[in-house]
Amino acid sequence: MTKICVIGLGYIGLPTSAVFAKAGYDVVGIDVNKKVVDTLNEGKIHIEEPGLPEVVKEAVESGKLTASTEVQKADVFIIAVPTPVHEDKTANTDYVAKATESILPVLEKGNTIIVESTIPPRTIDDVVAPVLRDAGWNLEENDLYVSHCPERVIPGKIMEELIHNTRVVGGLTPEGAKKAADVYRLVVQGDIHETTAVTAEMSKLMENTFRDVNIALANELAKVSDKLDVNAHEVINFANMHPRVNILQPGPGVGGHCIAVDPYFIIEKAQEETPLMQTSRQINDSMPSFVVEKIETLTENVQNPKIAVFGLSYKANVDDVRESPAVTITRSLQSHKKGFNVAAHDPFVKQDMTDIPLHSVEEALQDADVALVLADHRQFKEMDPSLFAQFMKTPVVLDTRNCVPDHQDMTLYQIGHLTGLKPID
Ligand SMILES: NC(=O)c1ccc[n+]([C@@H]2O[C@H](COP(=O)([O-])OP(=O)(O)OC[C@H]3O[C@@H](n4cnc5c(N)ncnc54)[C@H](O)[C@@H]3O)[C@@H](O)[C@H]2O)c1
Repeated sequence: MTKICVIGLGYIGLPTSAVFAKAGYDVVGIDVNKKVVDTLNEGKIHIEEPGLPEVVKEAVESGKLTASTEVQKADVFIIAVPTPVHEDKTANTDYVAKATESILPVLEKGNTIIVESTIPPRTIDDVVAPVLRDAGWNLEENDLYVSHCPERVIPGKIMEELIHNTRVVGGLTPEGAKKAADVYRLVVQGDIHETTAVTAEMSKLMENTFRDVNIALANELAKVSDKLDVNAHEVINFANMHPRVNILQPGPGVGGHCIAVDPYFIIEKAQEETPLMQTSRQINDSMPSFVVEKIETLTENVQNPKIAVFGLSYKANVDDVRESPAVTITRSLQSHKKGFNVAAHDPFVKQDMTDIPLHSVEEALQDADVALVLADHRQFKEMDPSLFAQFMKTPVVLDTRNCVPDHQDMTLYQIGHLTGLKPID
């Protein structure tokens, strides 16, 4: 019976461990964080993910899932450790290298090693394989089967997507890809495609780069529309009636730990060949300043203006504030020479997730000069728009997500439709 050792018990490694254990395989989860290990051995989890607590509890109680800080012998090693970016936006692959080094003492001929972490192209060839070769393993002869299988799950639906998503497995050798595909076939019901390691690395990165570039195009359109006094939302609507066109929506920028980060993993490996990717990153990163400029214009004639910020997370209906453009905008307003009084509200984000003070809807809106909507949470879409006029000093709303319903008693500007934007009297 296949035994699986998962290195790194975070958002990816923990659900992956649970899914294999639920299917009846012996799984040991390894983490350098002892608290994570102790929590798991109690049958509990340290992250939030719907459906995961029940599966973990059952798997731990049945003895199929255990956790340890020490690696153990296994048939399959799945590496799911972080790959953050350095200050200069290059990828930090040290965690992947260290995780690979950590399994050296327990490796046996014929073992399968799969890296699930998101990694720059050639990381399997240039970072992972050398660690194994230096330890004496002949990878060309398949002493060990080494591969990359990028993870595409979306938090909130991980338990479902781990089973049903299509997987791409890229081997250092064709046999490595095949062995990894066999591992996923134990639990995955989606299609599984075999390729080379570098193709798998690039395909994952291109998925997020595709989205970044397309969002940048929509954001550029919003700026052009502002200059030419055109409604970008109408333009997008009409253009998308073409059967082969799908322009995305403009917004306050791009956040999260994937779309705003993954393009850099390609850029660092091919600086000269990636002007489009680099420009797209710049365009999306420029959107917070564009939003702040509009707030500056609106409040030009107002002393100590109060700005009610609605939404801090990087996308709708989640509490994740990592790389969030909403946080960048809010901090920029807080430290602005104009002396903005900023009152933020987010129904998903808890106070201990951010250093930005949080308020209720009413507190945020009370006597505000401008309401700035930065996330398209369902509560904002469903909000009674008469509240703006009821609580604000001047009911002016700048909606960067095109989500708040319009109302006769307020002035609504949207990124993409800023027609008539002028200083508040
Ligand atoms: N979270 C997602 O939605 C998502 C989606 C797709 C891809 N990914 C990628 O998957 C990888 C893992 O992401 P995550 O969100 O699970 O990270 P995470 O931070 O939630 O978890 C990583 C875990 O690895 C542990 N760790 C670090 N070094 C270790 C080592 N040497 N040995 C054992 N444990 C170690 C950490 O203590 C942590 O618990 C990253 O490359 C990420 O980009 C994540």
